[in-house]
Amino acid sequence: MAGQVALVINGRRVTASAGQTLLDAGLAGGRAIPHDCATGQCDTCRVRVYSGTVDDGGTRVGDTVLACRARLTTETVIEFDEVPDVVRRSGTVESVVALTPEIVEVTVTLRKRLAYLPGQYVRVTFPGCPPRDYSPTLRTDGSGELNELIFSIRQLDGGAVSSQLGKQISPGSAVKVEGPFGHAFHRLGRGRLVVVSAGVGFAPAWAVARASRLREPERDIVVVAGARHAHNLYMRPALQWLRERGAATTLTCSGANPPDDARPGRPTLHLPMLTADDTVVTAGGPELVAAVQFLAAAAGATCYADPFYAAERTGTTKHPAELNFIQRLLQRVTRHQTTKTEPVV
Ligand code: FES
Repeated sequence: MAGQVALVINGRRVTASAGQTLLDAGLAGGRAIPHDCATGQCDTCRVRVYSGTVDDGGTRVGDTVLACRARLTTETVIEFDEVPDVVRRSGTVESVVALTPEIVEVTVTLRKRLAYLPGQYVRVTFPGCPPRDYSPTLRTDGSGELNELIFSIRQLDGGAVSSQLGKQISPGSAVKVEGPFGHAFHRLGRGRLVVVSAGVGFAPAWAVARASRLREPERDIVVVAGARHAHNLYMRPALQWLRERGAATTLTCSGANPPDDARPGRPTLHLPMLTADDTVVTAGGPELVAAVQFLAAAAGATCYADPFYAAERTGTTKHPAELNFIQRLLQRVTRHQTTKTEPVV
């Protein structure tokens, strides 16, 4: 492959070499496509191909490819969602409050505001701890200040970070934050919005659903949120807030003895019938997210996914042997679906 070809990125033309990745071509032409890992793992650089042919490097999902893997072959027109620039900020832990026996709400006050879209995540480094990815959210009553980042963090036995909450990580602790990242954020739209989450996946789900109610109050929205243990159903006030503003909400509990106001079983059991006009946003454990992606793909719905992993949600590589059955199945399905997705691995 040789020679010069044109690449049009969000309406701006740059000249590039055939065989270059879209990402490299954009950077060389002064038009940076949002990216993070640059190795095909995080999905941050996914772009829509409007015309032209690219060597997609096996990353095609519908009409989208990963810009860090896809290579130019002919003149090509691509587009991506404009997102806030990734920046670094510093701040201080304001409070550490137990929401449930396992889930803690941490509020960080930043010296300077960090712009992000509801549903995006940031990389947080507490003193003496490895970085972790968390989704800024609102308190369950809907409150939150512009210079605050509010996180819902599940405490894991032996977790390098979560086990330090309330100990090494306490009010006054210094915090470094980098971001925002991720594409499972709120977008204005006409079709129904279906938001599905489990556990602390409710953090980005709540941010997305609340933004939708405030910015597009006429849009149909269905919110399904749950937890395995009844004591972790901390999202009731937020669901009430959404219901009062016209959202259809369902609370689920997949563990023993679900409370009267929760439907038994996983959130996927209580999804509405999806259609190709729906936009689905899902966040939580990888199995739930993969199952929702699968159902959305089967219906031809657009799906934006934010899978949470126990240690972190950065673009870590997983050997196929580490993937469970649903994740491996989804990898195969998404190569042929028209649904826009984010990776589950
Ligand atoms: S930057 Fe392309 S997948 Fe991470």
